[in-house]
Amino acid sequence: MHPDAPLPFAETLSVLQTLVPPKLLSPRVGIICGSGLSGLGGSLKEVVLISYDRLPGFVQSTVPGHKSFLAFGLIGSVPVVAMLGRFHPYEGHKLSSVVYPVRVMAKMGVKNIIITNAAGALNPNLAVGTIVVVHDHIALPNLTGMNPLLGPQIDSSYSRFLPISDAYSRSLRRLVFQAAHQLSLDREALAEGTYAWVSGPTYETAAEGRFLRAAGADVVGMSTVPEVLAAREEGMNVMVLSLVTNMVVIPEGYKSVREEVEAELAGKVTEAVVDEVVSHEEVLTLGREKGDLMKALVEKVVEFIGNG
Ligand code: 6GU
Repeated sequence: MHPDAPLPFAETLSVLQTLVPPKLLSPRVGIICGSGLSGLGGSLKEVVLISYDRLPGFVQSTVPGHKSFLAFGLIGSVPVVAMLGRFHPYEGHKLSSVVYPVRVMAKMGVKNIIITNAAGALNPNLAVGTIVVVHDHIALPNLTGMNPLLGPQIDSSYSRFLPISDAYSRSLRRLVFQAAHQLSLDREALAEGTYAWVSGPTYETAAEGRFLRAAGADVVGMSTVPEVLAAREEGMNVMVLSLVTNMVVIPEGYKSVREEVEAELAGKVTEAVVDEVVSHEEVLTLGREKGDLMKALVEKVVEFIGNG
């Protein structure tokens, strides 16, 4: 597709009409599966998988641990559409491409979207494995000129200045806690918090981690916020679940290398210091381990939405 070509909604929808059976063509809920969380595709009955390369306007997911399928199917009796594998700006995709699938979901009539991601914990009270129900975000890229809604409006009926202080639906957040109760989850398994969006693909430095924590963020990740903004612009109710896959490395301070060298010069034996780092492998492993919990919660919430 030419970079400035208009978005090919009509083409995408007509391909979907030929590939998806009519009973699955009007999904009630859209789902976006984050790193290692595409196991959700396994929850769908009568599933139809469509590779992104068959869909005009869709790009490819290039990240290990991300698939590249749009899945249609039933959770219980509720028709849903799920992205197995998402797009990130750091892959080189334009923000308009990152959010294109969300807009396609809106055109199919999706009114509720559940977005999942893997995130690092900035809040020391969040244990690895906790699922965070996101109630707000801090998006440094949005504040500095990297916003998917920049540019000409794709629909003149949309608000030019979209308020997003209420972006994370209170009623959907309530449903997650009701679902957790029905599933008898431990209280600590589920938390509430603020998600910081950073562009990646580098993880944070220690100083950046402290900065985001001081600003009030509980978790940090490289996705989700662009999709949230597009979904809100399209008038959807939004729910975001972040799985804490690792703790962000935020040491209290820096152990002085000057003092270390001076001590050695004075003939003292010093303790070796190894700086900690985070890896994509630990993110994926934890996603696989806790994917079932995420799946159970999403299934319950979809069931509630379907009955609502
Ligand atoms: Cl530590 N940082 C960011 N930016 N994204 C992550 C992460 C950390 N862990 C999982 N995703």
